[in-house]
Amino acid sequence: MHTSQGSNPNGPRSWDRFAGLTAIVTGAAQGMGRAICDRLLEEGAAGIIALDRTPHAHPDERCVPFIADVADPRSATLAVAACIERFDRLDLMVAHAGIADPRPLLETTDEHWRRHMSINVDGVFYCVREAARAMVGRGGGGAIVCTASINAWHVEETMAAYNVSKAAVHAITRSAAIDLGRHGIRVNAIAPGVVDTPLAALVVHNPQLAPLYLRTIPLGRFAAPRDIADAVLFLASSESSYITGHMLVIDGGQTLGIPGDLETAAEGSS
Ligand SMILES: NC(=O)c1ccc[n+]([C@@H]2O[C@H](COP(=O)([O-])OP(=O)(O)OC[C@H]3O[C@@H](n4cnc5c(N)ncnc54)[C@H](O)[C@@H]3O)[C@@H](O)[C@H]2O)c1
Repeated sequence: MHTSQGSNPNGPRSWDRFAGLTAIVTGAAQGMGRAICDRLLEEGAAGIIALDRTPHAHPDERCVPFIADVADPRSATLAVAACIERFDRLDLMVAHAGIADPRPLLETTDEHWRRHMSINVDGVFYCVREAARAMVGRGGGGAIVCTASINAWHVEETMAAYNVSKAAVHAITRSAAIDLGRHGIRVNAIAPGVVDTPLAALVVHNPQLAPLYLRTIPLGRFAAPRDIADAVLFLASSESSYITGHMLVIDGGQTLGIPGDLETAAEGSS
């Protein structure tokens, strides 16, 4: 439910779409996960289990740190139990935690591959399944948002394990959406482009690489964590009540096509 946003879309927000609702957010210690928690709290969330493998804290007591590794199947079960014990219900799961470790295909070891699959794929699957079990158990209803990436189809060199893991997140999202629709549970995904977080610092804060990437982004800037958090809140809120199985691309236009600035790019490289 929202009250008003005022006439200035960049002005202060006064929405309370999440008043009284509870959530689990994984990867919540920093970056986008932290921004998602902040935005949920701004919009009235009653409580959040903020899961991350890194110890962290939040000044708002409604945001409860929960230290766990999503690759361990027990983590999602325990996080859901903690949410219900502490806040009495679970309305939203944001399966966001993930890693991205570049490595050329020829140098991709079994361990490197498995690490991406266990955190990015298994971790998301466990969170989706355990949240859905709790939601169905209390009579249905709820929302799940999974973090994929434009790499799910717009593949990047040296990122085979990551690219494949994000395509799997898209498939998990669609598979869960088709199974859980009958229970009133909506499952959607986000596909961010390049976001200014520690994970993408090697691109965003690299003086050589950043301008090259920016040429490929029609909006001419990298995403801020809040840009992504706003999209997650849309997919989690009743404003998207007839949307399920969708992957929302939030990339400033990066995957639209070939940028038109090739002449300038050629001059820059000569
Ligand atoms: N930053 C980008 O440009 C970008 C673009 C597209 C998608 N993504 C996706 O966004 C998600 C997070 O990205 P971010 O940019 O916020 O990253 P980040 O590295 O800033 O934050 C990720 C958080 O997840 C936690 N984490 C990692 N592995 C975990 C595990 N096994 N168990 C629990 N917590 C774990 C980390 O401790 C960290 O706090 C990932 O799924 C990533 O693939 C990022």
